[in-house]
Amino acid sequence: MIDIRSATTADVAALVECHLTCWHEAYAELAPADYLAELENSQPARISYWTTKIANGEAPWLAVDDEAVIGIAHAGPTEDDDLRPGLTLFAIYLRAAYWGTGLGDRLHRTIGDQPTSLWVLPENARAVRFYRRHGFEPDGAEQLHPGLRRTIIRLVRPPSKTPDR
Ligand SMILES: CC(C)(COP(=O)(O)OP(=O)(O)OC[C@H]1O[C@@H](n2cnc3c(N)ncnc32)[C@H](O)[C@@H]1OP(=O)(O)O)[C@@H](O)C(=O)NCCC(=O)NCCS
Repeated sequence: MIDIRSATTADVAALVECHLTCWHEAYAELAPADYLAELENSQPARISYWTTKIANGEAPWLAVDDEAVIGIAHAGPTEDDDLRPGLTLFAIYLRAAYWGTGLGDRLHRTIGDQPTSLWVLPENARAVRFYRRHGFEPDGAEQLHPGLRRTIIRLVRPPSKTPDR
């Protein structure tokens, strides 16, 4: 059975490993190979980042299949000045074997119904379709993602568009 639960500090190593593997699976065709290869070097920094976050009461949500971490969702106060106060969905990632199973919907429910924004590669068609299904729409903001070396676009979801499924 797959559980959706809040991460604890005991999950940090598995969380980071899952997150990095998800990046490889999601961006194999979209990200520069050197960027993906270098991601492994960020492991210690990521472990420290998530340990601090969880200790500060800002734990991400995990999808856990029989004790294996297979997905992560993380939202928090937006860092976009023009959208404050509001929430940003910083990450929602599933291992590729779980794409298209409805688990994305379950993870998405963890963010609740307040106004929410996120940044996505427009070429990430599955993710964009997923977000649109959940009421997100582009608001015209875009920026260069330095690692991906591509433009990412912002999607926003007003509370009225919160789906009920
Ligand atoms: C983005 C992501 C979390 C969305 O998950 P998803 O797999 O597309 O979405 P779901 O798990 O909700 O599955 C929805 C699909 O499964 C189908 N499905 C199968 N069983 C289902 C069920 N029980 N309930 C709902 N949908 C179900 C739906 O019909 C839908 O199909 P469609 O996409 O062809 O319309 C996932 O694709 C992912 O982790 N991608 C890689 C990481 C990534 O790109 N993250 C975003 C970075 S910005």
